[in-house]
Amino acid sequence: MERRTLLKLLAGGTGMSLLPAGLFARSASRPLAADPAGAAFAPEGASLNVGWRFQKGDIVPPPLKEQSATYVASKAGGARGAAAISYNDSDWRTLDLPHDWAMDQPPQQSQNIAQGYRERGIGWYRRTIALDPSLEGRYLEIQVGAASTNASVWLNGTPVAHNWSGYNSFYIDITSMALFGEKPNILAVRVDAESSEGWWYEGAGLYRDVRLVDRAPVSISTDGVHADPRKGADGTWSVPVSVTAYSIEKAPAAVSVVADLIDANGAVVASATGQGQVLPLEQGIVTATIADFQPRLWSVEEPNLYSVRTRLLRDGKVVDERTTPCGFRTIRFDGQHGFFLNDVPTKLKGVCLHQDHAGVGVAVPPALVEWRVRQIKAMGANAIRCSHGAPDVSLLDACDRLGVLVMDENRNFNISPDYVEQLSWLVRRDRNRPSIILWSVFNEEPFQGTPVGFEMVRRAASIVKELDDSRPVTAAMNSGMFTPVNVSQAVDVVGFNYQQQSYDRFHAENPSKPMLSSEDTSAFMTRGEWTTDKARKIAGSDDTQRAGWGLTQREAWKSIDTRPFMAGGFVWTGMDYHGEPTPHRWPANSSYFGIMDLCGFPKAAFYIRRALWIKDEPVLHIRPHWNWQGQEGKPVKVMLATNLDRVELWCNGKKVGEGKPDPYDMISFDVPYETGMLEARGWRGERMVQRDRVETTGAPVRLRLVADRAKLAGDGIDAQPIRIEALDARGRPVPTADLDVTLTITNGRIIGVGNGNPVSLAPSKGNQIKLFNGLAQAIVQTDRGSSGKLSLSASAPGVRQGGLLITVSPAEVRHSLPASLQQSVSMWRQSPVMAERPKVIPDLADNDMNSWDPVIAGERPAAASGNGYVILATKVTLAGDMSRSGATLRFAGITGSGEVLLNGSPAGRKAAAAPGPLEVVIPAGKTDVAVALVLATNAGDAVGLSGPVFLEAKR
Ligand code: GAL
Repeated sequence: MERRTLLKLLAGGTGMSLLPAGLFARSASRPLAADPAGAAFAPEGASLNVGWRFQKGDIVPPPLKEQSATYVASKAGGARGAAAISYNDSDWRTLDLPHDWAMDQPPQQSQNIAQGYRERGIGWYRRTIALDPSLEGRYLEIQVGAASTNASVWLNGTPVAHNWSGYNSFYIDITSMALFGEKPNILAVRVDAESSEGWWYEGAGLYRDVRLVDRAPVSISTDGVHADPRKGADGTWSVPVSVTAYSIEKAPAAVSVVADLIDANGAVVASATGQGQVLPLEQGIVTATIADFQPRLWSVEEPNLYSVRTRLLRDGKVVDERTTPCGFRTIRFDGQHGFFLNDVPTKLKGVCLHQDHAGVGVAVPPALVEWRVRQIKAMGANAIRCSHGAPDVSLLDACDRLGVLVMDENRNFNISPDYVEQLSWLVRRDRNRPSIILWSVFNEEPFQGTPVGFEMVRRAASIVKELDDSRPVTAAMNSGMFTPVNVSQAVDVVGFNYQQQSYDRFHAENPSKPMLSSEDTSAFMTRGEWTTDKARKIAGSDDTQRAGWGLTQREAWKSIDTRPFMAGGFVWTGMDYHGEPTPHRWPANSSYFGIMDLCGFPKAAFYIRRALWIKDEPVLHIRPHWNWQGQEGKPVKVMLATNLDRVELWCNGKKVGEGKPDPYDMISFDVPYETGMLEARGWRGERMVQRDRVETTGAPVRLRLVADRAKLAGDGIDAQPIRIEALDARGRPVPTADLDVTLTITNGRIIGVGNGNPVSLAPSKGNQIKLFNGLAQAIVQTDRGSSGKLSLSASAPGVRQGGLLITVSPAEVRHSLPASLQQSVSMWRQSPVMAERPKVIPDLADNDMNSWDPVIAGERPAAASGNGYVILATKVTLAGDMSRSGATLRFAGITGSGEVLLNGSPAGRKAAAAPGPLEVVIPAGKTDVAVALVLATNAGDAVGLSGPVFLEAKR
């Protein structure tokens, strides 16, 4: 069944118009084929990503002094300042999410090194949400993907959420407070990025998706499906499905569930049903077990992915439906023999990963997340550790689909209620994913070697197990594992961060305890640089530079691979990240640890890891490049990264070295430099199976742009990194080119640029980027609703320009609710009926909380209790264009006849008593305006604001 979602939108701009119902109908069970943005499972509901107002810096309302204003501010709906419904945000910047404001400015030396010297601070976001009246009665929930770091959220002037982590999602049930029709809902979010949770770059702002879901009154809760494949002792598989449903109805509801297992072609493989009851305003659980089928297993090599489609029915009719990923694999950690996937010994060849990328910070589009996972897989890795916090779902989508194992990690180690909820959320959100093999409850916590740490982890582990007993719990320890009471005793698998010297001792003392290296290596490299130059903050690429606590790439893997009891390891890190530029300081502002740089361009470590990790194909790479003009005759250390038995190295047709590479250390030769070509040849047994060449290039003569894909979806979500490189006259990439490049784009936008140089202070936004050791990157995207061709060109002084065209496929603009940019003036106070029209119209009745009623514009006007006058009063604050050029106060509906006064002076009149609109002009130059609407009453007649009131910039 295709559920027609009822969400509709109000068009942006000043006039508000309802679009027809069903405009954003979508299939809830989209086939699993990868879509351009990399999301296999369509998210539920409507995107709220577009049309936000944003203001950097905090907004603190002036202190309250008056009695009645304090009274009003203490009530639901009474928020002040930028959280207030009527706050005038018209001079704020307009932007779409995801957004990371810390990337908007280049690094500044006065800022925190750990955060990449980026200014963070506090920011405010606001947007309107217009809901069609047909949504009344449905369950409505706002879902915030993540906000860095602490967030407070208000809906219509009422605080509705406080979230104290930059990594978890939070869901806000707005069903009871939502407004419909022409009455817009005002969502205000204060994001505090002065707080931080990491010693790495964390970005700032609403950096993941914000969505609105609407569901039937009895529906499946968010993350409410737990579909948990189990292999029985007899070798058969089943999927017990547990469905949590919630009801906003007033009477108990009988429900049934149909769960279908669906294969990659969309065919239903097996089904199960279950029955239950959901009580009003409670959650109920219905279970069903899918059995009698023979699945194809999910593995790293063949990630066969299924889905479970769960439908909730009432009276035989489907009222809700959710599709979740499903994969069939067994996992086992063994104290002696390491990790087994589907009973096959599988060494974890993993990388730790922070979530940010060059140019975009933490606001990484899903397609770029997927691209990153592909690069990681291409070097032979089979695992990712989400260090040190919950990833975006797009990472898990990519890992499920591409066959990458995941160690999912909790951020805050704290078992008080707020933080337990963060841990529980992580497990509930992610527990259906075949990629996830481990839950990590912490990274390097000072309590790890103490009874306190033990007790905390014992509780954390039990919380995890209650939600998912199919995966082991681990913790990344960097000390304390030999004390009498410590965390290693409370986890299933002990994670070692570094501490290589202790692997053997711990194993000897705890022979049945599974162990893995949750973190190792911490080696330094600057991409494209061969020799270390500390003064210039350059780390050479010959795999000799490392942190005092770490090992080189080769040493680290040797220490794990030669110990069968070690389940594997996670290199610190797969890719560079902003911040933590150890071992350097300013101007170094991003890390040196990555196997790839900040753009995902391979460093020499990438080729070393390929040689260490890939077994089934020949690997042979020469490093460094061969552009050492001016150093003729001087020896250059040439390193061959290889998994082959025997190699030869040739320079300009002369053999300059040969040997049998060590499987871990590999092999190097000192070769006197001469212009020309180096060639490596490699043998497996008697057969020469691989060659690699590097050549001295000429000077750059032109630029080349290389896309990842020839197509881009024109939905404003899909994105891809474009490689910018310089070629010599013979078309060879010049590895030393450092040209200043200017980019020009049409039919698209550049959302970030970078070059992977850790000491670059250049802006991440804009169209200027310098090649660093021959490479730079631009991340491109289209606007929503685009089609045709995106064209990107690059020019640099003295060389021919390069360009490319990408076909923009007209993608269905995904279900998205744009925001209106007008201001809502919804909170008013209404006086009792006054027999006489007062000479001086009071703007607000101070100290009178009981006779002047608070009213919301658009609520049904009340019948007047007598003949005379009623006053409705409010205050508006004008900013930006509204204050400079004037504004229009638009009453969508006034019931009754009367006049409008602005700061006590007549400004408009409505003659007819029947409900009707009125517009009043506020002249230029005003900031604070007291608005009073004086209406004549006859006893029993309804008078008041029968429609919403808007403030609009004058056109
Ligand atoms: C570890 C830590 C990581 C990173 C790394 C650098 O101790 O877990 O987050 O700081 O050191 O070597």
